[in-house]
Amino acid sequence: MLKITIDNITTEVEEGTTILQAARKIGGKIVPPAMCYYSKLKGSGGKCRSCLVKVSRNSTVDSKPTSKLVASCSTPVQDGMIVQNITSPEVLEARKAIVEFLLINHPLDCPVCDQAGECDLQDLSFEHGLETTRYEEERREFNQIDIGENIKLHMNRCILCYRCVYVADQLTEKRVHGVLFRGDASEIGTYIGNVVDNDFSGNVIDVCPVGALTDKTFRFKSRVWFVNPMNVHRSCTKCSGKAAAWMFGDEIYRITGRKDKYGELEEFICNECRFDKKDKKDWVIEGPRKIDRHSVISQNHYEKIVKQSIIKPLEERTEPQE
Ligand code: SF4
Ligand code: FES
Repeated sequence: MLKITIDNITTEVEEGTTILQAARKIGGKIVPPAMCYYSKLKGSGGKCRSCLVKVSRNSTVDSKPTSKLVASCSTPVQDGMIVQNITSPEVLEARKAIVEFLLINHPLDCPVCDQAGECDLQDLSFEHGLETTRYEEERREFNQIDIGENIKLHMNRCILCYRCVYVADQLTEKRVHGVLFRGDASEIGTYIGNVVDNDFSGNVIDVCPVGALTDKTFRFKSRVWFVNPMNVHRSCTKCSGKAAAWMFGDEIYRITGRKDKYGELEEFICNECRFDKKDKKDWVIEGPRKIDRHSVISQNHYEKIVKQSIIKPLEERTEPQE
């Protein structure tokens, strides 16, 4: 086992564990945000830089710090490593810059975006972003397109995290969409007008951290904070049939997979459960689902978010010693 200290909290992890996974093992505020890493998708991470941390000691045999901040989702733990996340002003400053960077092309259309209230970028900007932008150039603009019968792609909002590409690659039989072109011309697109039409394609909606991929059967039907999430299940031959139903009174407005506290799906669900079963009779309702997030849908109102304060490293603290 390897010993790692993150923000003064020490834990032990197996070899091959990344700093982000070690932080999630500890839990709480010291866990770095992740906009592209997804534990259930192989190869994800390393794209958005929102999980940057400072390595102040590499390992027991190499006590030097790393020369720059590292992406915690793709940096493996070494024995004796010391890492700073919220104890480092440098990391918090860098995170502000990352938010500003991610928002360069992302429109601030939250009032009309279906993802508002459950958007990872909205949360990240609220906690770490600046109130203004310095960006004066023209933003990229794309037409909205349908990729598949039930999925709308709104490329203006995409932050190129690649999660949807990994879903299509790892969950479906024939991937027909991916990132086309390079650099600032990169965009999510389908290959020669193909549509995404396989049994698990709807999961791209759930993994998308922003409102770039939305469910056409739910679009503009309601704000997420007006619907109640319920744990439901049914017998399904394609997936486990365990889902979350978002209900307004007796009506099911949408079906999604069940997400954990890091916004990741507990299980991927099939399109039949997601798009075709909107009748209450189709499901066994287990009861209300607790949404473990600090954003609007967990409370039906915006909680007052306490800005991350910088915890001083142990050696700089001045409290009297016992
Ligand atoms: S569409 Fe969503 S999931 Fe796909 S790359 Fe863009 S932001 Fe990521
Ligand atoms: S979550 Fe680590 S780079 Fe995106």
